[in-house]
Amino acid sequence: MKKILIYHSQEEMIRSAAGHFISTGSAAIDEQGQFNVALAGGSTPTPLYEYLADKKADDLNWSKVHFFWGDERSVPPDHPESNFNQANLSLLIPRTIQKENIHRIKAELPPADAARHYQEEIQASFQQKLPSFDLILLGMGNDGHTASLFPETELVNGDVSNQNRLVAPNWVPKLESWRISFTPRLINAAQNIYFLVSGQSKANTLKLVLEGPALPHRYPSQLISPDQGNLFWYLDEEAAAELSDVNRS
Ligand code: 6PG
Repeated sequence: MKKILIYHSQEEMIRSAAGHFISTGSAAIDEQGQFNVALAGGSTPTPLYEYLADKKADDLNWSKVHFFWGDERSVPPDHPESNFNQANLSLLIPRTIQKENIHRIKAELPPADAARHYQEEIQASFQQKLPSFDLILLGMGNDGHTASLFPETELVNGDVSNQNRLVAPNWVPKLESWRISFTPRLINAAQNIYFLVSGQSKANTLKLVLEGPALPHRYPSQLISPDQGNLFWYLDEEAAAELSDVNRS
């Protein structure tokens, strides 16, 4: 199931996504005793993490939440650009999440080693051949990338060696840097995926991703289509400004 949810402001979008995060997490904990969530990097999710760190989100049994990351920059965990560092400061530390529940990508290692270790950690954490996260959070870049699936990069151009992988390194020429990322195969196995997209700068790309021709090599966010799970696009009005009425109803 795919739903496009448009909110008057980023604040309202974040508040709604936080409520959904809590209900999704509580349902997973009731059903299986824990909530496995993969966080996104970038700036959009930070207010969500800060909201979830606040007492307003006390309803969730945080001791049963296991944190993973959908991608990471090839930097140490205390680096200002680390996605782990961003979530650690805004959510994990304020919520005193125990270290056994924190499964960060060891991006201080060489990218191929970091990806291999992370894939092994995910496979050890899930008793499923194809691990299915309860929730994966994603952002979308102005170029249509998501996680570290950047346009025209190896991980997106369907390199055969990656097709069965769950986590892979990805060289991003325009950033001149390595990333470690979930593959589309792992992302699409999730029970729930929330895209969080806000701001006028994303409006044109979002229209192309959601309403344009299928060009996933150029707009990798088009690769996200859950096998059996639910996809929710959390948008503010600015990001949704160019969408047609059919996607705004
Ligand atoms: C990252 C993210 C990346 C992010 C987009 C959007 O490591 O940067 O995983 O995919 O979600 O670049 O970033 P903003 O939310 O900052 O626009």
